[in-house]
Amino acid sequence: MAEISTAAFRKVCYLGGADACYTEMISAKAVMFNNKKTLAMALVEPDEPKTFVQIFGSEPDDIAGAIRKIEEIRPPYGFDLNMGCPMKKDIKGRNGAFLHTDPAKVRRIVRAARAATKRPLSVKIRKGYIKDNSTEIAAIVEEEGADLLVVHPRLKSEMFLPGTCDFDLSIRLAAERRIPVIHSGDIVATADLPRFAGSRVAGIMIGRGAFGQPWVFDVLKTGTEPSPERKRELITLHFNLIGLYSSRLSEKVVMNELKRNAVWYSRGMTGATAFRNALYQNRWKLEDLLRELERFLGISLI
Ligand SMILES: Cc1cc2nc3c(=O)[nH]c(=O)nc-3n(C[C@H](O)[C@H](O)[C@H](O)COP(=O)(O)O)c2cc1C
Repeated sequence: MAEISTAAFRKVCYLGGADACYTEMISAKAVMFNNKKTLAMALVEPDEPKTFVQIFGSEPDDIAGAIRKIEEIRPPYGFDLNMGCPMKKDIKGRNGAFLHTDPAKVRRIVRAARAATKRPLSVKIRKGYIKDNSTEIAAIVEEEGADLLVVHPRLKSEMFLPGTCDFDLSIRLAAERRIPVIHSGDIVATADLPRFAGSRVAGIMIGRGAFGQPWVFDVLKTGTEPSPERKRELITLHFNLIGLYSSRLSEKVVMNELKRNAVWYSRGMTGATAFRNALYQNRWKLEDLLRELERFLGISLI
């Protein structure tokens, strides 16, 4: 997720029980233009067990070229092709969810990506653009040799609207396909899981449910919450790693990432609103921000 699933966040998600993680969306074109910031985002840390670098683009040659280039510099566990993003910028660029409108292009893209790498290849799709064409797109993805299909079962026009996630669609696609199908959408608690019982859905991808609780993966697997000490340990590590990894980009990026996550971690705490306002209204330097995070969240940072 853009500006969220950074190296620091992925690290704490793994420690919180995630089996695999996806990077932020990486523009294939920007990789081909050697954009420094994009390349920095595309290089996963050597100790990440199963991280997929998520590529977006609309041209098969760019996508294949970007995969080859990233693999040459620092190979990740696998690659993912984004065919689900509904944001205006991506639709205008004819990538993301827009690709659902052009199945022939989906075929060319997956074929080019497949030829570019022997590593695990995942493709993330939606239900469709304006109408459901997920069955056709999923079949193409499998026929062209992808290893994994991730489905966010909402139309592009449904964006992230509550009540529109079509769980039965993920179950149906999983029954139709031979490759593993992962469901993505609206899973936040163990109570959400029984609906997949007896289905062939091979796994669950968690997005918003991990904001401010990277331990959600263990909670979903075991049904138990980690102790407050363990939570504080992970929050501390998360913030220290943001300083370590994101400082390669800029201090502004570090500050934004710290603030965004601090707001999520503070949810439900007494005084959270005043804390949130203080983070965004004060013109603090990084040092001031770190001290405020320590004070409010009861942690100790480097
Ligand atoms: C802020 C935000 C950023 C996202 N960025 C991406 C992205 O870069 N790539 C992607 O495949 N999906 C992205 N998504 C979609 C999620 O991966 C996921 O499919 C969707 O939010 C539904 O799952 P959830 O209910 O678990 O969040 C994003 C979602 C949100 C809310």
